[in-house]
Amino acid sequence: MTRLRLAILISGRGSNMEALLRAAADPAFPAEPVLVVSNRPEAAGLHFAEAAGVAALSIDHKTYGKDREAFEFHVDSTLRGAGVEIIALAGFMRVLTPWFVKRWDGRMINIHPSLLPKYKGLDTHQRAIDAGDTEAGCTVHWVSAGVDEGEIIAQARVPILPGDTAETLAARTLPAEHRLYPEALAAACRQISQRDKKT
Ligand code: GRF
Repeated sequence: MTRLRLAILISGRGSNMEALLRAAADPAFPAEPVLVVSNRPEAAGLHFAEAAGVAALSIDHKTYGKDREAFEFHVDSTLRGAGVEIIALAGFMRVLTPWFVKRWDGRMINIHPSLLPKYKGLDTHQRAIDAGDTEAGCTVHWVSAGVDEGEIIAQARVPILPGDTAETLAARTLPAEHRLYPEALAAACRQISQRDKKT
């Protein structure tokens, strides 16, 4: 089995990145992490990646001001230079331009803390509570031009309990994210490998 060369893009804590790196420590996992990139130099996740022996670097979006494409051009050339074949966004808090999304079409996935198509964007847990929902969850999906709109790969559900706040619901959802993301990444790798075989 060939393992796809994986880059993980983060902005902060990086607990989902950590879950992916732990899963990929198994040589049978279909992705091999080669690079972690953060758009914020202070992201805590960078330290975990380095300690795990994975190359980790920051490309500070602030350096580029409003020039999103210049920032993304740097990210793109860094990823291509590392021979990356699949990108997992893990708490990466930058909206990507259509240019970047197209460059990585069918090779980039994201985890979102809601049961898409419900609650795209931010404040997902509070919005689910405010709507009176009885369940919440998380979704891994392919990244497409519309934010949080790409085809769904996998979802996990958690209950919303009486008295939940956005914080308690987030704390219940996060472990479900950590279980779901490695499985969904493995499924995405299998899809890419099958597609590549045919072409
Ligand atoms: C997660 O809830 C993820 O679903 C969302 O941002 C959060 C990132 O957390 N996109 P972490 O950085 O992976 O710990």
